[in-house]
Amino acid sequence: MLVDQRRAPAYFLALSVRKCFPIMIELMSVDYEYAGHAPALHGVGLMLPSGGIHLLAGANGSGKSTLLALLAGLLLPTAGTCRVAGYSGESIREVARLVLQDADVQILGATVGEDVMLGRKQQAEVAARRMLDRFAMEEFWDSPVHTLSGGMKQKLGLAAALLDKPKVLLLDEPLSGLDYPAIRELRSILSNNRELGMTQILAVHDLEPVIDLADSLNVLHHGELALQGNPEALLDQVRELGVRPPGTWQAGLGIRPWD
Ligand SMILES: Nc1ncnc2c1ncn2[C@@H]1O[C@H](COP(=O)(O)OP(=O)(O)OP(=O)(O)O)[C@@H](O)[C@H]1O
Ligand SMILES: [Mg+2]
Repeated sequence: MLVDQRRAPAYFLALSVRKCFPIMIELMSVDYEYAGHAPALHGVGLMLPSGGIHLLAGANGSGKSTLLALLAGLLLPTAGTCRVAGYSGESIREVARLVLQDADVQILGATVGEDVMLGRKQQAEVAARRMLDRFAMEEFWDSPVHTLSGGMKQKLGLAAALLDKPKVLLLDEPLSGLDYPAIRELRSILSNNRELGMTQILAVHDLEPVIDLADSLNVLHHGELALQGNPEALLDQVRELGVRPPGTWQAGLGIRPWD
């Protein structure tokens, strides 16, 4: 594999100590196998500091969604250890929220308000309405969810996740299907979450719209962590792992602000 996996944790440990941030994500030798299938993840060691925006890239089937499910406490490693904010096993669910790529799978309520209030007490309505307002969706409180556009459904999933105030927010392909204004809005939410100290991990195919926000780049290849570290140090190596370097990088302009 391309990464020197012994050095990668050292890089984040140094980053973490320098910024006085504790380690938020700590995976050691993690394997995951869906029953009766070849390993989806093998020997993954990953250490990420608290806070920041971390990209998880890789070709189709490389294991991104599986890794996010482990970080959300929805799947448990077949071997190795997975700790999030010091929690392991299903208790990770207390601190992490996963927003799925397919918003339809995650939406369970009949109306926007009903969906965002699922599992919450009546007193949470004020905060829920305020959160939807932040996403310019409060006016749709009574709207049936099937009338929402794809982008609005994704925002609803994100709003519901943020309402739980997770320490770790996991987003699976959050940019897919979003138009230009929606990507700008999502970028602004990501930046705002970062200012609040949240640790955010995004699984992405396309690095272009978020690479300038990333504190780290982590690339999976056939279920193994092939690259981990500072994006600028790694972008020359991603193409052979099935990930397209950003256009500005290919043009020799480095990483430029996306807008
Ligand atoms: N429920 C499942 N049962 C069996 N195998 C699965 C299941 N989900 C995923 N896999 C397999 O595990 C491997 C990793 O899949 P995963 O969905 O984590 O990859 P991914 O990087 O998210 O892919 P994509 O970019 O297509 O979303 C693949 O070989 C996939 O076929
Ligand atoms: Mg996936």
